[in-house]
Amino acid sequence: MATLNPQAAEANRIIKAISPTVYELLSKKGKAIYFPRKGILAQGMAAKDKDINATIGTAYEDDGQPMVLPSVASHIQLDSKDVFPYAPSEGSKPLRDKWKELMMKKNPSLGMKEFSVPVVTCGVTHGLSTAGYLFVDEGDEIILADLYWENYDLVYTNAYDARFKFFNFFKNRVFDIDSFRETVNTKPVGKKIVLLNFPNNPSGYTPTKEAAKEIINTLTGAANAGNKLAVILDDSYFGLDFEAGIFNESLFSQLAHAHENLLAIKLDGITKEEYAWGFRVGFVTYGIKNGNNELYKALEEKTAGAVRGNISNAPNLSQSLLLSAIKSPTYANEKERNKRVLKERYLKVKETLQNHKEYSKYFEALPFNSGYFMCITLKGLDTDKVWDLLLKKYSTGVICYSEKNLLRIAFASTPMNKIETLFNNIYSACKDCAS
Ligand SMILES: Cc1ncc(COP(=O)(O)O)c(C=O)c1O
Repeated sequence: MATLNPQAAEANRIIKAISPTVYELLSKKGKAIYFPRKGILAQGMAAKDKDINATIGTAYEDDGQPMVLPSVASHIQLDSKDVFPYAPSEGSKPLRDKWKELMMKKNPSLGMKEFSVPVVTCGVTHGLSTAGYLFVDEGDEIILADLYWENYDLVYTNAYDARFKFFNFFKNRVFDIDSFRETVNTKPVGKKIVLLNFPNNPSGYTPTKEAAKEIINTLTGAANAGNKLAVILDDSYFGLDFEAGIFNESLFSQLAHAHENLLAIKLDGITKEEYAWGFRVGFVTYGIKNGNNELYKALEEKTAGAVRGNISNAPNLSQSLLLSAIKSPTYANEKERNKRVLKERYLKVKETLQNHKEYSKYFEALPFNSGYFMCITLKGLDTDKVWDLLLKKYSTGVICYSEKNLLRIAFASTPMNKIETLFNNIYSACKDCAS
């Protein structure tokens, strides 16, 4: 790797002085990255209000408006200047501030304690990857549940040469806290990267309040024992909680100020939360006990540097659309409506399983209470075969996890009036397979 840029050295000095833990947790790339404030960007900023600004790589008309194609602009009601030029690498400041404000509202136990301003990424996947860039070195172990979103393989093992160390997710139909505790506390004491995703893909499970407390105590205990933890929280499905008694804040609200040895890294986005899958806007937010503005600024700068070096910046159009939507007086009701529809489907799945005792001969649901999905475990059947029959004979598509004997069912994408048929089809395919 090239010699350390002075801007990286300065950010590292600040980070190390305020939180030696965060400095230790940074990967080699994380230590080396910096936001190039002193280069082209700084010179562009310096020229911003000058009579002649011949610095930036954006075309403008003679009257100062962005030079656009009317056939594109005619579909957009927002002001061209909020849409066509580049967004900053760290993201639109008004949107970042608004997202932070919303995060505090959605997670009241965060209180008024300090945490970073979210940095915008190109969707949550890019947030996950950015966390990998900053905190994962070749050969590092990442602790995660044995039920996980498949793309973590590409993001972490392929791109950053990490190794996965799994804990068992469920035991006796509850979160397997013993397995989690044992995995997190595996010797030697040192750097630990933990990746948690609630509501979980594929299971649709969010911990109960009691289970959440145990998870938090386990992580805090490991920090207390001298481990340095980077806890990556994939909150993609945040807010889609369908039962009373489950922990309906992000674990970030409890972990962001839990211990000086524990850096909480919250990844969330508008993909599922705001029903805008193709817009590609996510956020990375940091919290650590005794973290201050200076530390968070340095981390935000490094994160923006990683964004700059990979995608330069996330789509301005999407950021501006979201910001204007959040300000709309109907926004909250619209979100409520969508959540209600998903909850009705969730309840329909529960009711269908309840009403068809015969299903238990061939399959059983894993615990689920939130998110988009639920899983069923097949009993002594060839999962691939059932999956294939479902497609070919019953015109029904689900996701098959053969090695776990699971089928994942996205109730979020299934119309209400097809949910019962979907399960009946699965039952019939299982019956065919068994005979
Ligand atoms: C657990 C989880 N994390 C991240 C993502 C990706 O989110 P995005 O589309 O914002 O990259 C998904 C999408 O399916 C997901 O299920």
